[in-house]
Amino acid sequence: MRTETPAPIRLTDYRPPAFLVDEVHLDFDLKPEATRVKARLTLRRNGETGAPLRLDGERLKTLSVAVDGRALAAGEFTEEAHSLTIPGVPDAFVLETEVEINPAANKALEGLYMSGGRFCTQCEAEGFRTITWYPDRPDVLARFTVRMTADDSWPRLLSNGNLVETGRGTDGRRYAVWNDPFPKPCYLFALVAGELDELADSFVTASGRKVELKVFVDPGMSARAAYAMDALKRSMRWDEEAFGREYDLDLFMIVAVRDFNFGAMENKGLNIFNSSLLLADPETATDLDYERIESVVAHEYFHNWTGNRITCRDWFQLCLKEGLTVFRDQAFSADMRGEAVQRIKDVKALRARQFAEDQGPLAHPVRPSSYLKIDNFYTATIYEKGAEVIRMLKALIGAQAFRKGMDLYFERWDGHATTVEAFIACFAEVSGRDLSAFFAWYEQAGTPRVRLASRWTPETGELEITLTQRTPATPGQADKRALPVPVRLGLLDAEGRTLAFELDGEAADETLVVLEGEETRVTLTGVTSRPVVSALRGFSAPVELSSDARPGDRYVQLAGDADLFNRWEAGQEVARDLILARAGGAPDEVGEERFAEAMGRALNDQASEPAFKALLLALPTESDLAVASPPADPAAIHAARQALRLRLAVHLEDTLKRLHLGLQDGGEFSPDAASAGRRALRNAALEALAARPGAEVTALAEGHYRAASNMTDAMGGLNALMLLGGGAFTSALEDFRARWKDEPLVMDKWFALQARDPSPDALDKVAALTAHPDFDARVPNRLRALVATFASANPARFHAEDGSGYRFLADQILAVDRFNPMTAARLVEPLGSWRRYRPDLGARMKAELERIAAAPDLSRNVVELVSRALE
Ligand code: ARG
Ligand code: ZN
Repeated sequence: MRTETPAPIRLTDYRPPAFLVDEVHLDFDLKPEATRVKARLTLRRNGETGAPLRLDGERLKTLSVAVDGRALAAGEFTEEAHSLTIPGVPDAFVLETEVEINPAANKALEGLYMSGGRFCTQCEAEGFRTITWYPDRPDVLARFTVRMTADDSWPRLLSNGNLVETGRGTDGRRYAVWNDPFPKPCYLFALVAGELDELADSFVTASGRKVELKVFVDPGMSARAAYAMDALKRSMRWDEEAFGREYDLDLFMIVAVRDFNFGAMENKGLNIFNSSLLLADPETATDLDYERIESVVAHEYFHNWTGNRITCRDWFQLCLKEGLTVFRDQAFSADMRGEAVQRIKDVKALRARQFAEDQGPLAHPVRPSSYLKIDNFYTATIYEKGAEVIRMLKALIGAQAFRKGMDLYFERWDGHATTVEAFIACFAEVSGRDLSAFFAWYEQAGTPRVRLASRWTPETGELEITLTQRTPATPGQADKRALPVPVRLGLLDAEGRTLAFELDGEAADETLVVLEGEETRVTLTGVTSRPVVSALRGFSAPVELSSDARPGDRYVQLAGDADLFNRWEAGQEVARDLILARAGGAPDEVGEERFAEAMGRALNDQASEPAFKALLLALPTESDLAVASPPADPAAIHAARQALRLRLAVHLEDTLKRLHLGLQDGGEFSPDAASAGRRALRNAALEALAARPGAEVTALAEGHYRAASNMTDAMGGLNALMLLGGGAFTSALEDFRARWKDEPLVMDKWFALQARDPSPDALDKVAALTAHPDFDARVPNRLRALVATFASANPARFHAEDGSGYRFLADQILAVDRFNPMTAARLVEPLGSWRRYRPDLGARMKAELERIAAAPDLSRNVVELVSRALE
């Protein structure tokens, strides 16, 4: 029987909490199958007198309930599947409860669970209610004291805040008491217990306070935490310099766990990380891993101010902490690794995930107004578009006013749970601007389409630029408003040199035009030669821009745009159009040759950085191309993209070989951005060469793989061998597994690589890998490595004509939903976009969604996504 569609939660239904909690004392008696949790809450009425106390709880075995020291009889409270209600409570009182829970049986990895024999927690968003009875909502802030007792198998006992006491109880078991002086919502609670090694360091804050830093990892792994520790210290310094934010406790801890539903979690003073985003050394981690570790360590650390000190009033305000914190971590990464390269990577991710989301059934505003399961709203829209909105805000009011507004926000809201409105009000106040039109960016879903038209009059030197906008309808939002769109632009002459102009009598190289309303027109003067307009520089707004530029203009930009983002963008657009023309049956051979020629020049440009060239050389992905050409035909896209790759490989053979040979790094491995950039370009050159199979390139790839002294190059070699296929690939795969079979993080790469294999029998192999002894669907990292990678990064095989790829994914979703709904729900997206595909494929995708929908006992998480996809 089909699960009933549950009622949604709505923003307009928000009511302040009926009771507040001042103090919480938790006492954990930790045992894997039967942990006892005693909770003592000091409660205070906040709402109507006489209203009963209602607490959240799930899967709890209630042992006792007492009010002000008096145990309640069974009839004095009501326990339901998700709540505990006590009528007739005083206005201020102490509630004591005791429950029993089973962490060992918790495979949903939400609340208190076991990973690698250790106890750990994940409470955001609503996991705390599976630990104890509590008002589980972010606007209830309390001071936590946590005591835990465990056998000697769990020697380290960690929680938030400061360690108050440790020792052994009368029963000889170990205990520890922690106190967190900062009031916090329960989603920031954390507990870890087990055997862990620590890497210790310290940091002196700007005001001279010394903070102990500890990273806890699997025994024997502490050397692999060194890079995360280094990133942490750089993050702490950066937040002081860029935002004036100092760390507040005397201790900051990070714990790495293997079984985790997502990336990491910012629990106060005790961040918990997926080990894949924490552990690194040159042998086992790629440059991309290093880069992600740096950014996620920063992200979780930055949450201490944007999320923890100031938190969200309700979960509809999630972007208040997530969008803002992504904005902050992107700014940090740009400072660490170079602005242009970082921006290109961020925009690639935004387009691949968020633009796709905006085009599908799950399109939602940065601040949604209803949901079934909040876990489904940890999306690219909340995170990545949420960051873009703040970036635009900064562009619109200027860096100085932006910083002032942030200062005001920190000052005004410290210690509170607040809203997006309150955040924006700070910037309106300091800038004196009316930001009400801007606020629509938070409330309106969809990617605006912006059109630029320009008219140059040689006689007068006037360039008239007209910008117009239109946002396509999204589910539930048919009518769209015009949004304020900041468009940064400059001009180039026919040679690609910067072309100066005048605006309102002032000379300029670049300007910010704000498109307001449906249409905005500006006239630049003093334009002395025919201009190439370089618009939306640095991707100054999350929109899709089209223009009346002449075809040759992009080549001018590709060769010399001073804005590196637009230089890269020009290359991507040319490549995209060529691939789509071929996929549509009208290949432009002359254009392809011209593109190869231009690419060769860009690769040989001594002035640009290797990391940038590596990005230039990467053609738009098949998924990007699918998004750009609905209804998409994945097989045609795959073949057309292959054809362009082949042309580049032939045309640029000498250049690519030279890059591959010349960029060899002799010395000691260093994860720094410049070294990583050289490795990226060298591996990209090898991948480009692998578009033309043959004995020579196979030998080159094999040599590359065997000579690799770090994981980046080993994976680069393996990737090229995968693209080339055949016996060389099979034996390299075996060699790799023999070497790394005991390293789970490396084996995840082994699974993911095979999931990306575009060869025709890939699905059979992937399906066979689900039965491999090293595969375990209960470990989210492994599941994602194989199943999510196949569905999202192997479009040619996922979209097999007979629907076998879809069937495979649906089977996995159904199997995983039985024990881990959050992770199962994350696998739905590749099927959800069925409307964007060739109708016969779309119908098969839809049929699989219907099969899932008809299955019994689905989780709310999967129900929400599947039913919305079918609406
Ligand atoms: N707050 C965490 C972070 O962004 C992520 C928590 C994800 N939780 C969830 N239920 N999906 O750093
Ligand atoms: Zn976050």
